[in-house]
Amino acid sequence: MKNLTPTMIPGLLLLAIAVVLVQCKSEKKPPSSAAFFEVRKTTYGTTPDGQSVDQYTLVNGTGMEVTVITYGGIITRWTAPDKDGNYDNVVLGFDNLGQYVAKTPYFGAIIGRYGNRIAKGQFSLAGKTYQLETNNGPNHLHGGVKGFDKVVWTASPQQTDTTASLVLTYLSKDGEGGYPGNLSCTVTYTLTATDALKVTYQASTDKETIVNLTQHSYFNLSGNFKKTILDHELMLAADNYLPVDTTLIPTGTITPVAGTPFDFTTAKAIGRDIDIADDQLTKGKGYDHCWVLNPADGLRTVASVVHPATGRQLEIITDEPGLQFYCGNFLNGTLPMPGGGTYGYRTGFCLETQHYPDSPNQPAFPSVILRPGEQYTTTTIFQFSVAK
Ligand code: BGC
Repeated sequence: MKNLTPTMIPGLLLLAIAVVLVQCKSEKKPPSSAAFFEVRKTTYGTTPDGQSVDQYTLVNGTGMEVTVITYGGIITRWTAPDKDGNYDNVVLGFDNLGQYVAKTPYFGAIIGRYGNRIAKGQFSLAGKTYQLETNNGPNHLHGGVKGFDKVVWTASPQQTDTTASLVLTYLSKDGEGGYPGNLSCTVTYTLTATDALKVTYQASTDKETIVNLTQHSYFNLSGNFKKTILDHELMLAADNYLPVDTTLIPTGTITPVAGTPFDFTTAKAIGRDIDIADDQLTKGKGYDHCWVLNPADGLRTVASVVHPATGRQLEIITDEPGLQFYCGNFLNGTLPMPGGGTYGYRTGFCLETQHYPDSPNQPAFPSVILRPGEQYTTTTIFQFSVAK
């Protein structure tokens, strides 16, 4: 520093400011990458009907942070590492509760009682016909007008030496949304030291009912939500998928993906075949279908997504039989993005593990019936890493 002259001081100041700005832009690993777990809590807002909503952030000390609000159990922010060790937010979300309440395409939410569609909102159980709300054209979608994405869950944080968890509970009363039975639900988000988020869903009922819970995060692994997700490379361990009618209800046939744009058995860019002239791509306005996951006992890896430019990789591990892959075809530049701008067409994708759509009306599909005395339990793990 002995050659420092007064004329150099403004330049040095600018350099110092630039260094600070660069450090703030990405969330770098903390100096020690030894795992330490923390659950941070703050108040988030109040719903129009006066319920207070809290925000919890699960922190694993290597850089991953998962922020969840008790409204809808929504994951509002989720950081993941790129090839340089930078942790950035990779899920679409809003700035505040008002925006989630006003209009959301289920960003980050827990979906229930029934993830996906039920034709005409009707089904029969134990000789009785039930009519659910029709909130998606002629069909019922994602639990109806006020599904599990729009209720306030009770949260309880839990911490061990190797995990940070948030246990969310909700009692859906008999008749809520038209569904039978008091359904007692627990959804647990558990963050591990290895950048995995394990989601376990549990439910029990006092009357025969149907249930199909899932998680509706929209991912964009680039961390830049102005970009589409068409360059992400997707692999789906599914030799078959479920073709749909024009209202996105499965026709009931299980169709091989081989030789169709729906073949993701070997990784390919989401955008590679999306514009091929294909009746099913036309009906879905792109990919918006349920893949029939290759069967296996228990948990298995069913999907993997890599964003080549950043190296970010997401693997989905589940015990569910199906996965709805939806690539943001209905995002249309009208929803506000934090920091300014709006979410454009195909700037996020969802990988929703679940039972098949319209199962209550499709006897050949795996059953979604839950009876008193039974325990509904399913698990999905979102595993982040850097692609090799
Ligand atoms: C459905 C889409 C729907 C989206 C948001 C997805 O699960 O498959 O059709 O537009 O959720 O509502």
